[in-house]
Amino acid sequence: MNQLDTNLAIEIAHLYKSFHANNKEIKVLKDINIKIPHGKVFGLLGPNGAGKTTALRIIAGILEPDKGEVFINGCNIKKNKADIQRKIGYLSTGTQSYPIFTGRENIKLFGSMYNISKEVINQRIKELNNVLAFDDILDKKCQEMSTGQKQKINIARTLIHDPEFIIFDEPSNGLDILTSKKLMDIIKEKKEQGKSIFYSTHILSEIELIADEIAIIYKGEILICADKTTLIQQTNTSNLSEAFLAIIEEHASKNEDPS
Ligand SMILES: Nc1ncnc2c1ncn2[C@@H]1O[C@H](COP(=O)(O)OP(=O)(O)OP(=O)(O)O)[C@@H](O)[C@H]1O
Ligand SMILES: [Mg+2]
Repeated sequence: MNQLDTNLAIEIAHLYKSFHANNKEIKVLKDINIKIPHGKVFGLLGPNGAGKTTALRIIAGILEPDKGEVFINGCNIKKNKADIQRKIGYLSTGTQSYPIFTGRENIKLFGSMYNISKEVINQRIKELNNVLAFDDILDKKCQEMSTGQKQKINIARTLIHDPEFIIFDEPSNGLDILTSKKLMDIIKEKKEQGKSIFYSTHILSEIELIADEIAIIYKGEILICADKTTLIQQTNTSNLSEAFLAIIEEHASKNEDPS
């Protein structure tokens, strides 16, 4: 199965992943299925250790699943990895820029890896600066930056090739409220441009603002996948935070060890 529905930006089918540590098998992803149409923001919500980062690493082609398939724009990532990865902008929680280079040098370096002309890179840096307001740090070495300043550079370098598919793992890590708000503006703008965004976080307020559809992942399983209104209605709650807790608590109580 190499070719699927090209109407979908991202499709994940029957994804399984386990890790082995201390002679024990940890089942981290258990039959994950997700369909994201083009031009939508998909929010993955889940508590610590739920499997979000593992899922995103597999979708970005960084990690192999034990079982299951990932299709980007209908193409199996296994078969067309290099081509597909050029269309992806993946920001992981471990993304780091070269410490001895300045912010601008880092962004330009990543831009040049995608064969983008200097003029276009400079124009994109200007546009990103209009939103992220990083004028003051662009020519500072990354090793001299604060956590949030580095994250601004990481976001910029993830977007420098204007990717069609954006995969963001907790991108607001270290950002102040003002910059987090600007990040939300960037996501909305990218969506308006027709880009498809996979956004993982445990910050409900961000998901609430931007996501068209929300999946709740808990202990490696997707418990529910729906828009915000449906999640609230189905759980008979009054906001996303209550709905999230209700879904997790219900699942935990059903799966409680009776002993
Ligand atoms: N390389 C690894 N080796 C062993 N176990 C791992 C490895 N990577 C992740 N895990 C385990 O897989 C589980 C899911 O981790 P993952 O990083 O995907 O969670 P997460 O939902 O992103 O959590 P967080 O919100 O804390 O970032 C955790 O129990 C973690 O300890
Ligand atoms: Mg994570």
